[in-house]
Amino acid sequence: MKKVLIAPSILSADFADLKNEIKKVEEAGADWLHIDVMDGRFVPNITIGIPVVRAIRKVTKMPLDVHLMIVEPLKYVNDFADAGADIITAHVEACGNDALKTIEAIKQKNVKVGISIKPNTPVKEIENLLDMVDLVLVMTVEPGFGGQSFIGECLDKVREIKAIAEKRNLDFHIQVDGGVNAETAKLCVAAGVDVLVAGSYVYCANDVKAAISSLR
Ligand code: DX5
Ligand code: ZN
Repeated sequence: MKKVLIAPSILSADFADLKNEIKKVEEAGADWLHIDVMDGRFVPNITIGIPVVRAIRKVTKMPLDVHLMIVEPLKYVNDFADAGADIITAHVEACGNDALKTIEAIKQKNVKVGISIKPNTPVKEIENLLDMVDLVLVMTVEPGFGGQSFIGECLDKVREIKAIAEKRNLDFHIQVDGGVNAETAKLCVAAGVDVLVAGSYVYCANDVKAAISSLR
């Protein structure tokens, strides 16, 4: 079994003190830093853009896991890669006919590539892309906001993706994002998840180190 990686989402961090908020999770043993990019079009919220990713790159050694919740991600993947992203994940629902082109553009930049599905998107929408990606992100809340409740039914898709990976002998990370806490994390890992994104659970904890360990 793969080691379970923890990727705290800075969406729930104090943006006025971002550098320290990042240091805090790095020192507490986080594996990746998850950065939620929202454009107010793909999702009804606006968050972080390219200059912020560039600034974050300077203050941490953690791999930057950039989750694009934006329309037409193909237009921006080069900019996010140049800003210092190590992993770029795009939503299949946002790619239109450009899913393959988007994946290829990310690979061209020597950045790891992820593809994501929202809670109501079936696995068949990404089935033909699975041999090209390094990561599959199964959303366990409707993307847009931190602090929502975990949608357990999404784990059926995790099991389905895991089964496809085994059948086709593919090796990619399976990540979940949304409503992850110590209880839901157990269910996720049992279903086949090896990368857990957690925003509010980590950043609202009094003891960040204990919160991260409890996810593992
Ligand atoms: C939601 C974002 C998540 C969010 C998770 O659209 O993609 O990364 O920060 O927040 P929690 O862990 O609080 O559900
Ligand atoms: Zn996210």
